[in-house]
Amino acid sequence: MAGRLRGVKGTRDLLPEEAGVWAAVEAVARRVFTDYGYGEIRTPLLEDTELFVRGVGETTDIVGKEMYTFDDKKGRSLTLRPESTAPVVRSFIQQGLESRPLPQRLFYIGPHFRYERPQKGRYRQFHQIGAELIGDPGPWGDAELLAMLVRFLGELGYEELVVLLNTVGDDASRAAYRETLRAFLEPVRDRLGEDSRRRLETNPLRILDSKSPAERELLSDAPRLVDSLSPASREHFDGLRGALERLGLAYRLEPRLVRGLDYYSHGVFEIVSEALGAQDAIVGGGRYDGLMRQLGGPDLPATGFAIGEDRLIEALPEASPCRARPAAPVAVLAAGAVAPLAALELAELLRGAGVAATADLGGRSVRAALKRADRSGTRFVVLLGDDELAAGQATLRDLAAGDQTTLGRDQLAARIKEAS
Ligand code: HAM
Repeated sequence: MAGRLRGVKGTRDLLPEEAGVWAAVEAVARRVFTDYGYGEIRTPLLEDTELFVRGVGETTDIVGKEMYTFDDKKGRSLTLRPESTAPVVRSFIQQGLESRPLPQRLFYIGPHFRYERPQKGRYRQFHQIGAELIGDPGPWGDAELLAMLVRFLGELGYEELVVLLNTVGDDASRAAYRETLRAFLEPVRDRLGEDSRRRLETNPLRILDSKSPAERELLSDAPRLVDSLSPASREHFDGLRGALERLGLAYRLEPRLVRGLDYYSHGVFEIVSEALGAQDAIVGGGRYDGLMRQLGGPDLPATGFAIGEDRLIEALPEASPCRARPAAPVAVLAAGAVAPLAALELAELLRGAGVAATADLGGRSVRAALKRADRSGTRFVVLLGDDELAAGQATLRDLAAGDQTTLGRDQLAARIKEAS
């Protein structure tokens, strides 16, 4: 016998019960984001590798070790998108969106790919719900974006999620801080792990994100980025904090929060959930004023976030409205010589009148079909026999009430709607 094939490691199948929850979550995202003036953008899953190398940064984990990169048949290096900020900016430039009124508000929902070690909440194909506000210098736009994010999470039933907030300042502030941090770590470099020693040369800010307890201990006395901020960066950050307070949005300052992508400037944030156990973030985002220019476009500031949809749904509160199951369709069964075509025909009639219905396709006893209908969770079963068909009637059985009536076919839809 041929061996059974399995899905690729780190990918998942979402079966109807679960996919229904996903669709409900996505519907809430579309509604809330649309209410804030955001329009959907769909960019390809495949991009030139160079987009991420230049956009996300060569020394980041994403570009260094996590990308699904391959050569196509003509030898072009392509990559399955590991994130969508760089693709959205690429599209913005390519499609000339700067000629439209600014700022532009764009959102996206879809799969992304990173070659990471799979575990709960971490997959190789994962999904993001993201939003980008392009052409606004902030900080008010950042506050509006966070308000939208918090409203969305609230509508899903999330409570008490705290936004962890930091600033990575402008280019000059970061350059100054990089040197300060290097000077602090250089004397203790022997106590750093291999990764961090390498980062000391390439990207010292990333060391702040270390998960190693020994390194975290070392870093507890490290100088803080907020103390290296230029006056303009400080003003930007104070503005953002003031706006969040004005809008009643709770946040916690997290001076060591640095993001894993190189394009950030000014305000950055993450949201973590205790429900996930690990300290993995459900949401990550921040401002990226230099990215558009770096990718060869106009010098436009921007800010945004991406929610990890897999994690969002894994931690979804029990009481979330997105968990509500839609009512199962009415089950239509025919018996005798008229089966199964009479059932097919009547189910079509019901659907035409706005009642969801499934037809029993025959091949089993009425008893078995009834049992299956009951198990499907439906409330109503419509039964058709030879006599009923001849008389233009059908029997409506209400499984919840435990009774049944025979009535004209043309009254069925109205009766079901009335009773549901
Ligand atoms: P990120 O922090 O790399 O940011 O990813 C955002 C979110 O995607 C994470 O917080 C996490 O929930 C989810 N995520 C990432 N990797 C995985 C994985 N392997 N499995 C499951 N979930 C994952 C970005 O991607 C930026 N583009 C966000 C952004 C938009 N910044 C500005 N605009």
